Amino acid sequence: MKVLVIGSGGREHALVHTFWRQGHTVFSHPGNPGIHALGAPLGDGAPDDFEWIARRVREEKIDLTVVGPESPLEKGIADFFAAQNLPLFGPTKKGAQMESSKSWSKAFMAKHQVPTARYETCKSLSEALQVASSFFLSGKKAVVKPSGLTGGKGVVCCQTYEEARAALQEIFEEKRYGRAGEEVVIEEHLFGPEVSLQVISDGSTMIPLLAAQDHKRLYDGDLGPNTGGMGVYAPVALDQAMQEKIEQTVIAPTLRGLKQEGITYIGILYFGLMLTEEGPKVLEYNCRFGDPETQAVLPLLESDLASLMMAAIRGELSSQQIRWKSGASCCVVLASEGYPASPITGHPIGALPQKGDLICFHASTALDSEGHLVTAGGRVLGMTALGADLEEAIEKVYEAIEEKFPWAVFRRDIGKKALSTPV
Ligand SMILES: Nc1ncnc2c1ncn2[C@@H]1O[C@H](COP(=O)(O)OP(=O)(O)O)[C@@H](O)[C@H]1O
Ligand SMILES: [Mg+2]
Repeated sequence: MKVLVIGSGGREHALVHTFWRQGHTVFSHPGNPGIHALGAPLGDGAPDDFEWIARRVREEKIDLTVVGPESPLEKGIADFFAAQNLPLFGPTKKGAQMESSKSWSKAFMAKHQVPTARYETCKSLSEALQVASSFFLSGKKAVVKPSGLTGGKGVVCCQTYEEARAALQEIFEEKRYGRAGEEVVIEEHLFGPEVSLQVISDGSTMIPLLAAQDHKRLYDGDLGPNTGGMGVYAPVALDQAMQEKIEQTVIAPTLRGLKQEGITYIGILYFGLMLTEEGPKVLEYNCRFGDPETQAVLPLLESDLASLMMAAIRGELSSQQIRWKSGASCCVVLASEGYPASPITGHPIGALPQKGDLICFHASTALDSEGHLVTAGGRVLGMTALGADLEEAIEKVYEAIEEKFPWAVFRRDIGKKALSTPV
């Protein structure tokens, strides 16, 4: 098949890498230096010029378009392609609201009885301060979330009312997130391990991919500020009882709810779960593959990804089964000094390791005027190793990284907690 992948980060490199290793011809738009080595650039049209992308898709006779990031989905690329009868894997604008509006998705969860944190939505600072204060007065901590898209950088888990007030002032007074912050969700702080569960959906059937665990905080031991994700391992060993509980209490009501809302959800639906003492609860939905989760999960996929996606587009997922390689994977993110606040860009990256069972995904890289690979953003590379088990995957990935990237900031404990304490 000829497959086009839209986007330019580590997730998209993992998608391109999977199509490439499974024998497909890959195009990318806009891509990055790592992606371009495997998937030809589509051309120099603007990333959100859907008209231009659709024209190029017809010219190149591309069979399948896959959207990596949430932004084109929120802007309606799936609706645009559907109107032109071009196969695209990703939800419509309406379906993308599962991610693009946290107030919409919380109301969806409440209406369709999907377990989630107790919450209120607010549209003004005074209202929000009152809600936050009532959370703290009743002895609960509060989590403040701008409702719109913030690139994973908008949520603040507040320990005190003062922290909540500062976060709310940034949103409403300083308008730090622009329109994404016109509404906020304030919710109860939950506790428990987090699991990222992605399902592939055709609107009537949802099939789970391997569960993964991201590490959001910057420093070892889950300390420091929240980031876009510092590393991930897969699969997370969920026991049978937990898998069934997630299936019955989370996935099934979500699918039923989508149908009731008149949404035929085609694409990946990502469930950000917290496994609390009261059972699994949804922290958020994403309307696309997770990043960095995809960089750990897809290298373990044995089934043909393009065929699975085509089956989803045709509404034929119920006849599909997904096969996985045995073993485990561990992906460590190499970030640039200064991440997440102000990462240094333009720094030489150096030689990348070349080993069979190690994959080096490019997240934010660029070529300088002399053709050398340099850092171009916060999360620069995602280094993924596969192993017979998690211990081996961890050992291999750190062997490839240690002392080879002096410019990089990275965590040294990705996946290690799982070796001693299963979820
Ligand atoms: N109710 C909550 N209780 C505890 N932690 C939370 C809660 N909501 C979010 N978090 C933490 O904040 C992170 C980001 O929140 P999330 O809702 O996933 O937003 P986004 O990914 O859009 O930034 C989560 O991965 C989790 O670590
Ligand atoms: Mg999240």
